[in-house]
Amino acid sequence: MAVLALGRGIAEADAEKGRAFFEKKCVRCHKITDQNGTGPGLKDVSKRRKEEWLIKWLKSPKEMIESKDAAALELLERFKVKMPTIFEFETQEGLLEDVLDYLKTL
Ligand code: HEC
Repeated sequence: MAVLALGRGIAEADAEKGRAFFEKKCVRCHKITDQNGTGPGLKDVSKRRKEEWLIKWLKSPKEMIESKDAAALELLERFKVKMPTIFEFETQEGLLEDVLDYLKTL
């Protein structure tokens, strides 16, 4: 499963670190309310998306679009802008889980 492939358990993730990164990298496009900006407002995002979907999306929005994932295509259609690949998720171990944990608090 994707979760296992990430190396570190979700249980150990640190939402506080995730929040700090979010405020550096994501806020210019995402509000944490249900109001949209350049991208969708992320309130309750972990309720409308499965964890597995969120992990895949955060790892590579590009691949999700290329693989014609229905939800990803629908978002692109609505927002017109492509979310960039966040390269830090590849280079900083555990960061994706931290951000995922933070998203769950929204
Ligand atoms: C340059 C703008 C931009 C940045 C920066 C950005 N995103 Fe996005 N994001 C988008 C757009 C636009 C979408 C909608 C899909 C699309 O059109 O690609 C999206 C979609 C999403 C979704 C899916 C939302 C839903 O309703 O299902 C999540 C989750 C998400 N982004 C998280 C993040 C996180 C976490 C970061 C920071 C690490 C981030 N994004 C950085 C623009 C951005």
